[in-house]
Amino acid sequence: MLAAKETRRTVGDLEALLKEVARIGALPLERAETLPPGAYTSQDFFQLEVDRVFKPGWMCVAHVSQLPNKGDYLSLNWLGELMVVVNDGAHIRVLSRVCLHRWAPICEGKGNAGSFVCPFHKWSYTLEGRLIGAPLMDQAESFDPDSCTLPEFRSEVVDGFVFVNLDNSAEPLKPTIGEMSEALANYQLDRLVVGSVLEYECKFNWKIMVETFMECYHHIGPHVDTFEPDFPAKISYVEDSRLAWTRGFGVARPEVVPGVWEVGLPRFPKVNAKECEAFGLYLVYPFLMLATFPDRVVWFQAQPVGPDVTLLRCHQMLQPETKALPDFPRMMEIQDKTFDVINLEDISVNAKQQIGAKSGFVKSGRLSHLEKAIWQLNQYVAHAIVGTDRTLLHR
Ligand SMILES: [Fe+2]
Repeated sequence: MLAAKETRRTVGDLEALLKEVARIGALPLERAETLPPGAYTSQDFFQLEVDRVFKPGWMCVAHVSQLPNKGDYLSLNWLGELMVVVNDGAHIRVLSRVCLHRWAPICEGKGNAGSFVCPFHKWSYTLEGRLIGAPLMDQAESFDPDSCTLPEFRSEVVDGFVFVNLDNSAEPLKPTIGEMSEALANYQLDRLVVGSVLEYECKFNWKIMVETFMECYHHIGPHVDTFEPDFPAKISYVEDSRLAWTRGFGVARPEVVPGVWEVGLPRFPKVNAKECEAFGLYLVYPFLMLATFPDRVVWFQAQPVGPDVTLLRCHQMLQPETKALPDFPRMMEIQDKTFDVINLEDISVNAKQQIGAKSGFVKSGRLSHLEKAIWQLNQYVAHAIVGTDRTLLHR
C-alpha cells in the first residue's frame, strides 16, 4: 500500500517538474530563471536526461592524442556502458568491451595491445572487435565465431576530440560545429597533446558544472582573488547560442597586460591580439567544455554519473613541442597548482549548491544577464526533455 502511494507521488512529482521545465524553457532572457531544483536532484529526471540528452547526444570521451599508436586503448564506463576507445591503426573506434561469451570486460584501464583477450576464458578479439580465438569451443554445435563481433558504437572525431553517440540517433556532429572549428582554428586542436590531468569526483549535478564553467558572474564570489582582479565578471559576455554549441568570453580589464594568465608556455603561433585579451569559454552541448588561452586550451571533461555525482577531468592541452621544453615540468607544476586552486574554488561552492537544491524551501532562482549561457542550457535541456522549441536562442 505504502509502495503504491509512493509510486503515485513520484509520478506526480516528475509531472510537476516537467511542467516547470517546460515553463522555464520558454522564458525570454530578461525573465530567465534556473531550472527547478528537482532537475538537479531527482533520479527520475536524471534518467530522462540519460535517455533524452546523453545517449542521443554526442558525448566527448577522449582526444586522439591519448591514443597516438596502433593498439593504444582507453577503457570507459559511461552511464553503465562498458566501452573501449581504440586506435586500430587506421581509425579510432569505440567498441563494447564486454566479452560476448559470459560478459566479462575484455580490458580495463589504458594501454597498448595487439588484441583484446578476455581474462575469464581467454576469448580473443582483434582491435576491430572480430573474434579470433575461443579455446575449447570445438564441441559447441553450430558455434559461429563470425557472429561474435564486439558491437561498435557510433563515433566521430572532430578537431581531435572523440565523441560517441550511444543510441545511434544523432545527426552527424561535424557539420553542426563547423563554425566553432573555424573559430578555434588558431589553436589547432587536433594536434594538441595532454600536458597534465587533474581529476575530481564532484558531488553535484552535471548542469551545475557546465553552468559554472560558462558564467563569469561568480568571479566576484569564489574567484574574487583569482579571476576577478584581471577578468572582472562585469565585462564578461556570452554570444547567442548556436544549436549545437555556444561560447562566452572572460574579458581582461583594459589595463591588464595581454596574456596575463600565461606561465611561460609558448603561445600558439597564430593566436591574435583579440585572443590574448580574453579567455574563451566554449561549450558543445551537452557538456564538452573548452577554455582557450594564448598558450593552451583547457579541456574540462564532464562525465555524469548520477543526479549528484559528476566526474571532472581537467586537461591542459598543449602544443606537442611544449612538452619537450627543459622547463616544461616546472611550468606545468605552476599551471596545475593554479588550476587546482581555481577548480576547488568552484567545486566547493558547487557542492554546497547541490545540498541547497535539496532543501524543501527552494524554487527556481532568477538569473542575471551575465548568466545567459545558463538560460541557453535550460532551453537545450528543456527541448530534449519536454520538446519545447529553442527559437528564443536566435533573436
Ligand atoms: Fe569558476
